[in-house]
Amino acid sequence: MKPDSQNVTDYTNNNTIFMVWSFKDNPEVKEAFGQLCKLIINLNNSANIRFPVSRASCVMGIGHDAWLGLGLPVPLPKELANFAPIVGNKHTAVSSKGDLHFHIRADNTSICYDMAAEISNILSPVAISTEEIHGFRYWDSRSILGFVDGTENPHGQDRELFSMIGNDDPAYRGGSYLFVQKYIHNLTAWKELPTEQQEKVIGRYKANDIEMSDDVKPSNSHIALANVGDDLKIVRDNMPFGNMSTNEMGTYFIAYASTFSTVQQMLNNMFIGSPEGNYDRILDFSTAKTGSLYFVPTFNMIDDFSS
Ligand code: HEM
Repeated sequence: MKPDSQNVTDYTNNNTIFMVWSFKDNPEVKEAFGQLCKLIINLNNSANIRFPVSRASCVMGIGHDAWLGLGLPVPLPKELANFAPIVGNKHTAVSSKGDLHFHIRADNTSICYDMAAEISNILSPVAISTEEIHGFRYWDSRSILGFVDGTENPHGQDRELFSMIGNDDPAYRGGSYLFVQKYIHNLTAWKELPTEQQEKVIGRYKANDIEMSDDVKPSNSHIALANVGDDLKIVRDNMPFGNMSTNEMGTYFIAYASTFSTVQQMLNNMFIGSPEGNYDRILDFSTAKTGSLYFVPTFNMIDDFSS
């Protein structure tokens, strides 16, 4: 990993809290953000020392409007913009607001809880929490749809290559683009599908997680459309979540990328279709409720922002 990058290449952990915050119109915002930057560095250093086996970390992302409002350096990271919705014939990748995004991971909930609480203490006076999702590892890293999620993620040095900005934007080298979407699944409809049909939606076999051969894999399966080429990868760390009382079962989709255009290409294939109209069947069972893009600065950048 590049020495001062945030923990974007870490592998999925057992517990996650995802938080989205939006700033209020408050004169104290900049001061609070400075304190927050110090806290993020402190939380990560402290977790490494106190709980080395927990692989605990907190990754902070900053949205386009917040970047400008906080007076952070210009020119901005090249691709940092507000996510524009992608409207397909049947399904839409909506865009939602968010100034700061936190991706908190640990092997136990106590660490996640304490990190989220410390962040909230600083932000509560100046910002509103608009989303908080508690994700968990479901069996052998399965999505709540029952399929293993994460298998074709890049490994080894490819994780850094595909998740971090390189020399094409030198001022922001080592940073990442972070794209998130909260999906709610129609589990009732999904469970009514026989396993063989579910497998055709994903493009892999359910029990053993083996990919279908090209002559069997439907062109509108999720992996047929999400795979946009060996040179165009992203690092995903999706987590399932579920709430019985609201009957909201979902997937928090999260991707770190060296360039947002790769994510955009995947989304176009999924929502508009390739060719147009041949959209991703997973969307017939999954509705995107949010969608936003952030920039993940390196720790050195965060340190600069804190003063
Ligand atoms: C693969 C689930 C949304 C990109 C997969 C796999 C599953 C899965 C089960 C197969 C195993 C694996 O390789 O990880 C989901 C669910 C989603 C979702 C439940 C939300 C409803 C997305 C979105 C994108 C995406 C929005 C991109 C913007 C990918 C990619 C692969 C993949 C690149 C690997 C394709 C390959 O090369 O085989 N996903 N996914 N996924 N997904 Fe998703």
